[in-house]
Amino acid sequence: MTTRRILVTSALPYANGHIHLGHLVEYLQTDIWVRFQKLRGNRCIYLCADDTHGTAVMISARKEGISEEELIGRMQKAHLEDFSGFDIEFDNYGSTHSEENRELCAEFWSALRKADLIVEKEVTQLFDPVAGTFLADRFVKGACPFCKAPDQYGDSCDRCGHTYSPTELIDPVSTHSGATPEIRTAAHLFVQIEQLHGFLETWTQSGEHLQSEIANYLKGHFLGEPLRDWDISRPAPYFGFEIPDAPGNYWYVWFDAPIGYVASTLQWCRRHGESFDDWWRSDETEIHHFIGKDITYFHTLFWPAMLRTAGFGLPRMVHIHGFLTVSGEKMSKSKGTFVRAATYLEHLDPSYLRYYYAAKLTPRVEDLDMNLDEFVAKVNADMVGNIVNLASRTARFAEQTGLAETYPDDGGLFEQAAKDGDLIAEAYESCDYNRAMRLILAAGDRANQFVERTAPWNLKKDATKTAELRDACTIGLNLFRQLAVYLAPVLPKLARQTGDLLDEPIRDWDESKRPLLGKPVRRFEHMMTRVTREKVDAMIQQSKASSPSETEPAVVAWQDSDEPLKAEPLAAECTIDDFVKVDLRIARVIGAEEVPEAKKLLKLVLSLGGEHRRTVFAGIKSAYLPEQLVGRLVVCVANLAPRQMKFGLSEGMVVASGPGGSEIYLVSPDEGARPGQRLH
Ligand code: 2FM
Ligand code: ZN
Repeated sequence: MTTRRILVTSALPYANGHIHLGHLVEYLQTDIWVRFQKLRGNRCIYLCADDTHGTAVMISARKEGISEEELIGRMQKAHLEDFSGFDIEFDNYGSTHSEENRELCAEFWSALRKADLIVEKEVTQLFDPVAGTFLADRFVKGACPFCKAPDQYGDSCDRCGHTYSPTELIDPVSTHSGATPEIRTAAHLFVQIEQLHGFLETWTQSGEHLQSEIANYLKGHFLGEPLRDWDISRPAPYFGFEIPDAPGNYWYVWFDAPIGYVASTLQWCRRHGESFDDWWRSDETEIHHFIGKDITYFHTLFWPAMLRTAGFGLPRMVHIHGFLTVSGEKMSKSKGTFVRAATYLEHLDPSYLRYYYAAKLTPRVEDLDMNLDEFVAKVNADMVGNIVNLASRTARFAEQTGLAETYPDDGGLFEQAAKDGDLIAEAYESCDYNRAMRLILAAGDRANQFVERTAPWNLKKDATKTAELRDACTIGLNLFRQLAVYLAPVLPKLARQTGDLLDEPIRDWDESKRPLLGKPVRRFEHMMTRVTREKVDAMIQQSKASSPSETEPAVVAWQDSDEPLKAEPLAAECTIDDFVKVDLRIARVIGAEEVPEAKKLLKLVLSLGGEHRRTVFAGIKSAYLPEQLVGRLVVCVANLAPRQMKFGLSEGMVVASGPGGSEIYLVSPDEGARPGQRLH
């Protein structure tokens, strides 16, 4: 068998959200495929990265009051913890916000320029005047221009299915700020992908690189007419890489995201002293992308067009999967079925999910339904009841004798399962894990029947049957180990445990072809425990409890009028020196009383801490009762020249806003501020 060189990627997860069970369909599907390739002795690397750029990250960072870099750093750490918790192992995990990616983006860009594929055009878009950004379609909501359904996104209506432009929405609102968007025009750069129409037609329809339903979809939806120019730039402000020859403009996140695959490879090559060209510019390397069906368009049209133009290797295959549904429905926060990876790990063994997804995954672009009863039943019956049971019913009777020196007659069981290995391998190769699992379970059934027939637990009771017992266990354990090899891509932990049990690590697929002999059998440790419905329910409950209710808007909308500013325009500019002349201090109101003769005034005694007091006559009587004020903190102008009033000497001022009457608002500091502190 010749060794293949294989480069594998999963879609880069966005840096503004946590990994959930839906994402894991893809990362587990890919991880299983990669582990299978490695077990087969192929040179295979698995690359991924966080997808960090774009408006969503920029806005989230602003809301949290942190830099984008801090936000993406934090998220990358969380993603990596989730992945490792599920035994998902990358050869390199990068970030699209890396120097390698910037370098490569520039390289792709200059190739596109050189090929004369870039044009500039004016784009009219909705603009959020509060957030100060242009709005991508999914950041605008409003009523559908066709059926008037409220609360629809800027590109299409959930209710009637019409597509439209966000500028057509009725009463549009920005989901960032709640502001009413304005229509603005800016210059954008476009890739004229139509110039590669012929190439894309051939590449997508060759029958080699895409599942047939995908090839047909592309033919039916895109390739039947000229391909539309692809808008590849965004004006500032935008979190991303500035386009070197178009200052003030940034590459759109979908331009630099797939380049992130290449950048992650470059990092890996630099770290391992590997030739980058061997991996990205060689016909001998197979490039395999695993993605979800929602991002088909980017990976099967734009990405091959970019690779081709820049002289990089084209994907051998883009493997496309469907979405996760839970009990036949979309994952839902309010139902608790939107389960984060980290929440799952608090309650359940990752092996359960690895196996369950494997049992359900086929090479077709179908949604994968996770039925919680089925999840419990399958894991218990197939993994605990069938596979692990083989080991637990034989290992403990072989601890003293170890494995026999020669393989006893098993009626052809080992031989048959060894032959099945080719079919199982084919099934893995074609991503038909469902078939692979069925073949493995069938072999497990046959092996269990053998154990049942020979009943080591009975042989153990008969001192004259020691040799028979050892033979029975040698067969049982070898049949088990054979399956552990086949399952190693799905259940790496089980493979490790089997290696420990029989003192021989599982490293190679072909170990399923030869029985293991003359080895000690270590003490049997539990390999996988039964899953209970209670634990699954606890996970669902926790997800429900930690999800904000779905009726609550994702962002708090605010829409402030500019009336106050109009009513009182900004004062003339001042300098910092002017500002520091005014000494503003935190003060506590320790006394408050009405001034009977004055309509508007309350007499306040303020404490600046210790014995430092100020008496202030404040014009706030129309809005506050004296008893509301005693004890609270206010801001006072502490160095104002004292003013003699009719009722006494006023030694400062308290700071408030509002036009007057009942609309007077005293300014208070945040929790923790102390009297006497200066405001800077
Ligand atoms: O759909 C997504 O979640 C994107 N972050 C995937 C990017 S894949 C690639 F092109 F980088
Ligand atoms: Zn509609």
